[in-house]
Amino acid sequence: MNGDAGMVANTILTFLPNVVTTFISFGGAFIIVMQHDPWMALIALLGAPISFLTSRYSAKRMRDFQRDNQNVASDRTVFDQETFQNLQFIKAFGMLDRVTEKFHKIQQESVDVALKQNKFQQSMTIATSLVGQAVGYACYGFAAFRLWQGDISYGTMTMFVSMAASLRGSFSGILGLMPMVIRSGISAERIMEITSLPRDSMEDKEEADAIREKGRECGIYVHMDDVDFAYEEEKWIYQDASFHAEPGEIVALIGPSGQGKTTTLNLILGLYHPQKGKITVGNPGGDELRASSSTRCMFSYIPQGNTMFSGTIADNMRMVKPDATDEEIWSALEAACAWEFVEKLENGMDTEVRERGTRFSEGQKQRLSIARAILADAPVMILDEATSALDVATERRVLRSIIKNEPHRTVIVAAHRPSVFAMCDHVYKVGDHRIEEVDEEGIRRFLDEF
Ligand SMILES: Nc1ncnc2c1ncn2[C@@H]1O[C@H](COP(=O)(O)OP(=O)(O)O)[C@@H](O)[C@H]1O
Ligand SMILES: [Mg+2]
Repeated sequence: MNGDAGMVANTILTFLPNVVTTFISFGGAFIIVMQHDPWMALIALLGAPISFLTSRYSAKRMRDFQRDNQNVASDRTVFDQETFQNLQFIKAFGMLDRVTEKFHKIQQESVDVALKQNKFQQSMTIATSLVGQAVGYACYGFAAFRLWQGDISYGTMTMFVSMAASLRGSFSGILGLMPMVIRSGISAERIMEITSLPRDSMEDKEEADAIREKGRECGIYVHMDDVDFAYEEEKWIYQDASFHAEPGEIVALIGPSGQGKTTTLNLILGLYHPQKGKITVGNPGGDELRASSSTRCMFSYIPQGNTMFSGTIADNMRMVKPDATDEEIWSALEAACAWEFVEKLENGMDTEVRERGTRFSEGQKQRLSIARAILADAPVMILDEATSALDVATERRVLRSIIKNEPHRTVIVAAHRPSVFAMCDHVYKVGDHRIEEVDEEGIRRFLDEF
């Protein structure tokens, strides 16, 4: 994106002034030569149609080259990012050779593309300069002929030859700018692909804020009624799915991996929209809204996986609440059972997290994420297997203190572990293209199956 924007800006800044000056010098030379001898002007522009046609052909080829270049560049970026992120994994599995091989392959691809493009450009340059030379000699010969016939003076001939050269020069100057214009056209296209993505609508923002405020006293419910959802047409994750989470409840979504737990949480967050049915959030006995980007302010969400950023622990906490005091951070860390290890660090909450939190264990990172979500202080908390790396006792303490601090809080957890189920008011099983509430017996059966 950055590179593309630079390309477009650069083209606008260099192309426009260049076109203006080139047109002025072209027009001036053309008028002078035309006034003295229209034939001479015609000969000087003899190469123009050829140059024009070749430049059209090369424009098309350049477009292809540019596309290949950009594809290779993005492959390379993805490769770099993935490799560095998974470095430990790659080393642990002794995959260095294979990764190096892939690196060489990508490198070879970019060399091939660059070589092909260079070859093409060089041969085009040679061809156009040969045409230019031929036309130049034609002009020179014509002028010498007129001089020999006594039509023009020696001085006029010199003027002709130099004007004709300037005419040709400015014409090919304009054509020479074409590759740059083409490249930036492609860049502009790519930028527009991003800027034309649909935007999150925030039209219900005020109502959503009002519901959130009221939720501080009476809580917020999340209802999903008769929902059909598929990422791709006809491939239903589930149909006619319903579940209800009321204020003060802990509701669990259980089910085997890949059946739609995370999907359900994404639907609740308004990140996707159901094909049928509705998902609503609202105050009991009060207003309600359909889940959308506006209603996201009611949730604090702890996704699956690592969400630590570089900076100190306190910096990470203040991401969701910039004006949080040290006391507020301390109490959030304590509620998430994170204070017990943060306290022992040499700089306490001012300890550097380091890149992606490498200095902490998975369970510690999860507790920090939970502390951050608690600090955000939203009426509904969503945890996507966010306690999976904690031991059972700590998991219970964390979940209990989430509810204890805020009795109206609604908590929705996606989980595998039976330890969580015992604390929940309702347990829903996600699987077999359905969502159904299960009782203790059902939970036992679920656990037996897996
Ligand atoms: N963005 C997506 N596009 C298409 N399919 C997806 C997407 N996200 C998840 N899926 C598919 O939906 C199913 C449910 O995934 P998910 O909700 O993540 O399961 P889990 O219950 O393990 O959280 C899986 O089969 C997965 O492949
Ligand atoms: Mg999941």
